[in-house]
Amino acid sequence: MRPVIITANWKMNTTPADAGPLAADIAKATDVAGITRIICPPYTNISAVSDAVEGTGVLVGAQNVHAEPKGAYTGEVSADMLKGLVSWCIIGHSERRRDQFESDELVGQKTIRLVEAGISPMMCCGEQLEEREAGSAVATVQAQVKASLETIMAAGNGLPADLVIAYEPVWAIGTGKTATGADAAEMADAIRATIADVGGADYAESVPVLYGGSVTADSFAEFINEPSIDGALIGGAGLKPDQMAGIAATAAEAAAARANS
Ligand code: 13P
Repeated sequence: MRPVIITANWKMNTTPADAGPLAADIAKATDVAGITRIICPPYTNISAVSDAVEGTGVLVGAQNVHAEPKGAYTGEVSADMLKGLVSWCIIGHSERRRDQFESDELVGQKTIRLVEAGISPMMCCGEQLEEREAGSAVATVQAQVKASLETIMAAGNGLPADLVIAYEPVWAIGTGKTATGADAAEMADAIRATIADVGGADYAESVPVLYGGSVTADSFAEFINEPSIDGALIGGAGLKPDQMAGIAATAAEAAAARANS
């Protein structure tokens, strides 16, 4: 059975001074049974968050990693540098695809680095509004996932056992608009079909697919009630303990229902 996962992506928010108290508040607010909770602070606040959530069961992730193992890349952070600090890392977020021009192949390379370092990859994908309106959302997202997975396969060690995919329609991020549960579930099924093409049906069934894009305590149920969706990647609401409390409560209900079915 796939885990139910809620991940807060703090993006470029919080400081070393306020990250720890916020993480502690979120850990307390989301202290429910049966789900996986992850907080991804900026690099500079990883240690403060780790200290604050110690013993709570909350896991800590990074928001990005460099595709090369080491070298002359001023300002960048390698997988080895994150080793021991985080258990998860987001890769291929649409904001990085947009601002740093990250390609699907680069996202695949980053995944390879994370696997080498023993860090679990949370790989983002998602279509632009024009692609959704043109009816090409599914093909776009499938192409993204396929190219990244094929890059990983070409390295020869197979696909990571702990891979998570986060489907985040770009037009839903930070806009207050969400996909419908049905559209997100259709995409999750399409993503798993692509994963199955590359890595086999059993492997595809094992990969959690999260939804992201304006998830709140109010909207989360629509997504987690879809059997093919396994949780959420949360931006704005991930900075609010009361929002995270509602999301976690709904996630725990879903996890319990799935365990009993
Ligand atoms: P919002 O929840 O703020 O829309 O952000 C989603 C996101 O990009 C999470 O990675």
